[in-house]
Amino acid sequence: MLKPMIMKWIIILFGLIKIHALQLFHAARIRQSSRPRKEPQCLRLLHGPSQHGREVLQAYENGDHAMIIPRGVTLKIALDLNNGVADASSERSERFTCPSSLDLVHRLRKCSHAVLVGRGTVQQDNCTLTVRRVPPEAVECFINGVQSKKVVQPTRIVIDPGLKLIQSHDENQYAILNDSYETIVYHALSDGEILTKGLQSKILQLPENVLLVRATTQYGTGELFDIRQEKTLSPQHILDDLNARGKMHIMVEGGPETAKIFLQNHSVDRAIIIRAPLHFKEPIPSGITDEILGQAGLTRLGTRLCGVDTVEYWTRDGLVWPSPSLQSWP
Ligand SMILES: NC(=O)c1ccc[n+]([C@@H]2O[C@H](COP(=O)([O-])OP(=O)(O)OC[C@H]3O[C@@H](n4cnc5c(N)ncnc54)[C@H](OP(=O)(O)O)[C@@H]3O)[C@@H](O)[C@H]2O)c1
Repeated sequence: MLKPMIMKWIIILFGLIKIHALQLFHAARIRQSSRPRKEPQCLRLLHGPSQHGREVLQAYENGDHAMIIPRGVTLKIALDLNNGVADASSERSERFTCPSSLDLVHRLRKCSHAVLVGRGTVQQDNCTLTVRRVPPEAVECFINGVQSKKVVQPTRIVIDPGLKLIQSHDENQYAILNDSYETIVYHALSDGEILTKGLQSKILQLPENVLLVRATTQYGTGELFDIRQEKTLSPQHILDDLNARGKMHIMVEGGPETAKIFLQNHSVDRAIIIRAPLHFKEPIPSGITDEILGQAGLTRLGTRLCGVDTVEYWTRDGLVWPSPSLQSWP
């Protein structure tokens, strides 16, 4: 009589233990899947067995993290004390950050596969976006049978929906369309529009290293932006295209409108904001505030002095900084 009763209780007990174990297992799985996505502290030798690839590996082994190439998009923007990006009172945009910050920017360019700007920045600054303040990447190669080193610069990316730069590019006006390094211009013109605007002869005169790519617009995706509406080229489409070309780490170097579109599209993984201790006479507002950065899904990790400037480091929620300490990357 007693034995069946004990057996019955043992079976019930085992049943309860099994249910509890299953509950614990499911809870653990839910916790795991809802964890924020973390990027591995990656060291990506995307340049293959180049000199740079070897240097990166060596740098990592030596604890020098400045040359690590992460994935994704890093935004850099420099501001004065009024949140301005440039001084409208001066004809040409002058450098206004200190030498240490400029070095930081060139290190960031060096560990980027592409440096992206909007049409306005090229038109206003005639920038080259090359690595100059630190030694650029160099690959060993043979030129006319002689072993030599060839400088490799990050690809320059310009967003120019109406190809206004090409239209106004007279007598080799823009360095970026004229030197020997690679440039990709994303635009939104159809072949018919290119013909109507009479752009075909100017396009044919561009050097081989300048590539024009027609990008899709946000229009029709249901994701319209206030600022530019259907004329906005999709940052995601541009990034997908760049990734397909092997460009995995993109530096967005401005200007403010391009930066805002990338932020609004949640396409920025980390941001480096450089604040210079000066007041422009007539500041051109950046429109980039802590609130905008927060709405873009970024969190401030920390701040440090870089020469006389202050550098803020922001990252997408759940993403680790590419180096163990903030100041060691880039
Ligand atoms: N302090 C800094 O860190 C910094 C950095 C860069 C530049 N700047 C300064 O910023 C000023 C220029 O400002 P900005 O806002 O005009 O420059 P910008 O962002 O370089 O250029 C804006 C233009 O780029 C095009 N564009 C960019 N993204 C687009 C997208 N997703 N879809 C469609 N079009 C897109 C549009 O061209 P269309 O108008 O042709 O449609 C837009 O008007 C200059 O004074 C420059 O010196 C400062």
